[in-house]
Amino acid sequence: MRIVLFGAPGSGKGTQAVFISRDHGIPHISTGDMLREAARNGTEVGLKARSFMDRGALVPDEVMIEVVAQRLEMDDANKGFLLDGFPRTVEQAEKLDEILKLRGAGIDLVLWLEVDDRELVKRLTSRRTCSGCGAIYNLLFQAPKIPDRCDKCGSALNQRVDDQQATAEKRLEVYQIQTSPLKEYYLGRGILKKIDGAKTPDEVYSSLKETLRSGRG
Ligand code: AP5
Repeated sequence: MRIVLFGAPGSGKGTQAVFISRDHGIPHISTGDMLREAARNGTEVGLKARSFMDRGALVPDEVMIEVVAQRLEMDDANKGFLLDGFPRTVEQAEKLDEILKLRGAGIDLVLWLEVDDRELVKRLTSRRTCSGCGAIYNLLFQAPKIPDRCDKCGSALNQRVDDQQATAEKRLEVYQIQTSPLKEYYLGRGILKKIDGAKTPDEVYSSLKETLRSGRG
């Protein structure tokens, strides 16, 4: 399966991707995670990306297309993959189609997690991420058992720079303008499936599983 997990910032893509990747044995390719790791490692791409990410803007298409094209070359992506955070513009989607077409393949399903903006801002500003294993928490909805400590590995929890209120709101604006046109793009190809992302994480995953089952035919 070649799947795109699509949705606004905070819609639960990272949370749900962990379940899908585990149950389907396909790599979870998160462009946000890849860029944050590159920035931590001080690579040229990472440092360039950080200047866009920290202010809630999109990293330029040519940079992102190169990053994803290289990742899809890796062996583990041959059997399928789950893209989280890519594509984010129509240009990225067109390039992705071109890359896959060269291999005689294409995207099978685009799973769109729909959540309203007020809920998204709440989720983003109260998110915490583990500095060790990357597990995702939320002070309001999925709090860790011990404050500021990861349940899984005990490392400290951090707040992402781009989850401050003003930057989170900016990211939602950017999503509306630059990313939401992708709905039409994938609707036209008949592969977009809308899922109510406002339910609990377990309920959302049940809907996703159902869609994945029926989407496979
Ligand atoms: P990225 O890291 O991809 O961020 P995003 O798309 O904005 O998505 P988030 O990670 O913020 O949210 P999510 O949907 O994964 O939600 P999560 O599961 O964490 O990108 C960051 C930046 O990198 C971009 O702004 C851009 O600068 C750059 N970038 C990345 N890709 C790019 C591209 N292709 N092109 C250009 N630039 C790119 O959940 C959020 C919170 O809600 C958590 O606290 C979670 O615990 C909680 N939660 C999850 N599900 C539920 C639920 N059902 N109920 C209640 N709470 C929930």
